[in-house]
Amino acid sequence: MALGVITVREIDPHDAQAFDAWYAVLRAGAVADREVPLVFSHQATANSLRSDNPIKTRLPVAAFDGERVVGAMLFEYYLKNDLDAVIVEIDVLPAERRQGIGTALWGWARSKAASLGRTIYQAELAVPDGFTPETWPGSLFAAKLGFVVEHVEDHLVVPLPYEHRVELEPLEGYELISWAGPCPEEYLPVYADLRSAMARDVPIGGMSREPKVWTADELRQLEERTARSYQALVVLARTLDGRPAGYTVMYLPLTDPDNVQQLDTLVLRDDRGHNLGAHLKAANLAQLAEHRTTQKWLHTWTAETNGAMQKVNARFGFVAREKNVECELELPAPTLRPAARAVVLDPEDRILLLRFEFADGHAVWAPPGGGVEAGESLPQALARELAEEIGIEPPADAPHLWHQVTVADGHAAGFDGVTNDYFLVRTDAFDPAGSMSVEEMQAENVHGYRWLTFEEIQSHRGPEYLSPRTLPVLLSRLRDDGPPAEPVFIGL
Ligand SMILES: CC(C)(COP(=O)(O)OP(=O)(O)OC[C@H]1O[C@@H](n2cnc3c(N)ncnc32)[C@H](O)[C@@H]1OP(=O)(O)O)[C@@H](O)C(=O)NCCC(=O)NCCS
Repeated sequence: MALGVITVREIDPHDAQAFDAWYAVLRAGAVADREVPLVFSHQATANSLRSDNPIKTRLPVAAFDGERVVGAMLFEYYLKNDLDAVIVEIDVLPAERRQGIGTALWGWARSKAASLGRTIYQAELAVPDGFTPETWPGSLFAAKLGFVVEHVEDHLVVPLPYEHRVELEPLEGYELISWAGPCPEEYLPVYADLRSAMARDVPIGGMSREPKVWTADELRQLEERTARSYQALVVLARTLDGRPAGYTVMYLPLTDPDNVQQLDTLVLRDDRGHNLGAHLKAANLAQLAEHRTTQKWLHTWTAETNGAMQKVNARFGFVAREKNVECELELPAPTLRPAARAVVLDPEDRILLLRFEFADGHAVWAPPGGGVEAGESLPQALARELAEEIGIEPPADAPHLWHQVTVADGHAAGFDGVTNDYFLVRTDAFDPAGSMSVEEMQAENVHGYRWLTFEEIQSHRGPEYLSPRTLPVLLSRLRDDGPPAEPVFIGL
């Protein structure tokens, strides 16, 4: 079935129905053609998106065809480090690919990044065995957008229950301390230091990433957040006189029936060459066995170039099944032309929209308003534009509803895109007649106007676009909840 107008918007993770629909598409897109996919479980994703995280913001964003979710994006950015970067994961239902849905989600990502003043985009691709960058859709898509591969890791797995036998030399000069769940208070500062050392030491190729420095408090908060979805199994190594030497972590999910993750394994530089990496892993596997889990796979990731860890993994029976490809794209900050617009509603909630017709024949129904001139504030620009276009005066305190960022060609000559700030103007219905003549309006592509009822907006299906494209949902929210406390960010 041909798609209608694709709209993209952030969804509310607390809205169970919207979250479920978004997650189902994210998952279906992410697992397609992969034999050992690791996708965060529904529960873990819900827990994460529904709780505050002082370190990282994570936004669920969906692409809709009408009411149906056809593509899903997780848009993330760190709050204390990597302040120039955003991280995107985009997944499209296999049956709906190659119709521009991925590109529409990418457009939202560019808009949001521009609004945050961030210019570096990062993405991770899972490329299964049997595919290459020339045949894997994710790689082709990322390459088309201009992403460059900066770091490649093997994604390795070993089946569970773990049955591999590993004979180890006895460990001399070190002791191992294991725990499940939160780190015992006495080891917390040391554990935080080791996590920071891991962030410093782990190979990341050419990725722009500032190593995170963990404080004991931040680590406790991380533990509390992850404990909602995983039990952490940790083994720490220290010298006999108490100096920390390394650690390893597994995340045992509370709800994922298939996958356990073996994450960080670190041995400090001075302590390498004593088989500590193998002892740490063996001790944590022993801990895992005690938990009698029913999952099918233990996953781990190691840089292709990390010879020492590759050797340890091979010894423990891990087999590489995918490449985990990290890529990055830096784009100059777009220049955006600011505009102020009015959501003009009459007492019956009809909205006044102008019809814009363009040289290529396409038409858009958009709220009145226009570009901010040098030295003008948004309210001043709004008042001038409304006087010129429709002949009404907005109230000085018109509620600021939405902040729209569109990064795309063709919206404002000489700019990479536009911002539109929308203000609510309530008025009786009237026949628009501003100071501009019909010819002057036509020179600005305006060819007529209409008052559209709430129902007409809700049932609009194109081919003429509404602007913003998500107007039906925005008006519906405005009707239900009134003006927002803060302007809501929107994309195209
Ligand atoms: C990657 C993915 C999101 C693309 O979604 P999509 O809706 O098919 O993307 P689009 O239709 O917007 O494609 C944009 C361009 O990417 C390139 N591209 C995407 N898939 C391709 C494929 N299978 N073969 C060749 N080129 C492809 C093309 O240049 C395409 O433009 P074109 O169709 O005009 O030639 C989708 O394949 C997917 O969900 N893959 C699994 C998850 C993943 O790897 N995501 C990576 C991004 S974080």
